Amino acid sequence: MIVEIIVFLLTAILAYFLYLYKWVHHYFDKRGIKYLPGVPIFGNILNSTFLRNHLFDDLDRVYQAFPGERYVGYIEGTMPILIIRDPELIKSITIKDFDHFVDHKEFFSEEVEPLFGGSLIMMKGERWHDMRTTLSPAFTGSKMRKMLPFMTEISSNIVNHLKEWTQTELAGQVFIFFVAGYESSATALVMCVHELALNPDIQEKLYQEIIRFKEEHEQLTYENISTLKYLDGVLNETQRKWAAALIMDRVCNKPYVLPPPREGGKPVHLKPGDIVYNLVNSIQMDPQYHPNPTKFDPERFSDENKHNMKPFTYMPFGMGPRNCIASRPPIQLS
Ligand code: HEM
Repeated sequence: MIVEIIVFLLTAILAYFLYLYKWVHHYFDKRGIKYLPGVPIFGNILNSTFLRNHLFDDLDRVYQAFPGERYVGYIEGTMPILIIRDPELIKSITIKDFDHFVDHKEFFSEEVEPLFGGSLIMMKGERWHDMRTTLSPAFTGSKMRKMLPFMTEISSNIVNHLKEWTQTELAGQVFIFFVAGYESSATALVMCVHELALNPDIQEKLYQEIIRFKEEHEQLTYENISTLKYLDGVLNETQRKWAAALIMDRVCNKPYVLPPPREGGKPVHLKPGDIVYNLVNSIQMDPQYHPNPTKFDPERFSDENKHNMKPFTYMPFGMGPRNCIASRPPIQLS
């Protein structure tokens, strides 16, 4: 009897996943969206699930499969997601029509994980807006000038001024500043050192700029750091080749009509809860936007060249009102 029950349960589970596998294909077919079929249960993420490759490779395979499309279907397990390929559409989603795409995808609910779930990055709608408006002034240029030595004081001011928020919510913001701040800045630094080791000529040019700077200035300040143009190029190029955030995700919170995925196609209607991924790394490594993308070349960001870069093809700090709250200072912090 026990064997029959197990066989029945296994068959039911298998049938359920096969149903989902077919359902997700039907979801994209019905809307005229191209996709790679993937495999049952894992969709397009089989290889990264079993650590056979990086998640970037799974995402990039789908991005590369249909070069002519504005967006394509991506199957994350059994969940249909749209990968946005067109920089103009990324602009609409992250800026022009931001009010339709305010939130990030939920990893854990606040009830399950109050620290991460209650942080700015995971907050939704009005609550996110209020917290972001409160925290943003701490990251303006003038504040940054004075901020570092007074970091501790500022955090105690926040506690004094924001009494209406609970300790858990405050802890969430401090937590995300450490996680989002340290991990991403550390990744940028490590990859920068890695590229400098591989490119001794670039390393030498940077070294010479820093030596000249030391001769001309007594110390490094918020004002004079911007004269280190080559250093800026090196850091920007590191963030292009090795952007820490693979995916700039957005969740649709108000019905939205996407333009057709290609000439002659039909528009796609998104409903609240539908997820889109703006693929930062794939776009930053796409040769049509950044020729010879695997080459580490800080000159891409020189005063002469940087204006040739198509808008929305370089976005390591995200874009729009939901971009990185520290998009100005992390470089200085690094
Ligand atoms: C090299 C350094 C950094 C990189 C590459 C980076 C990248 C990012 C990206 C891609 C996002 C999502 C943007 C979007 O969805 O449009 C983000 C959000 C965020 N980052 Fe950073 N970040 C860095 C440093 C920092 C630092 C130093 C802090 C804090 C001190 C910080 C705090 C945050 C917060 C709080 C959010 C969520 C903003 C919101 O949802 O309103 N990041 N970051």
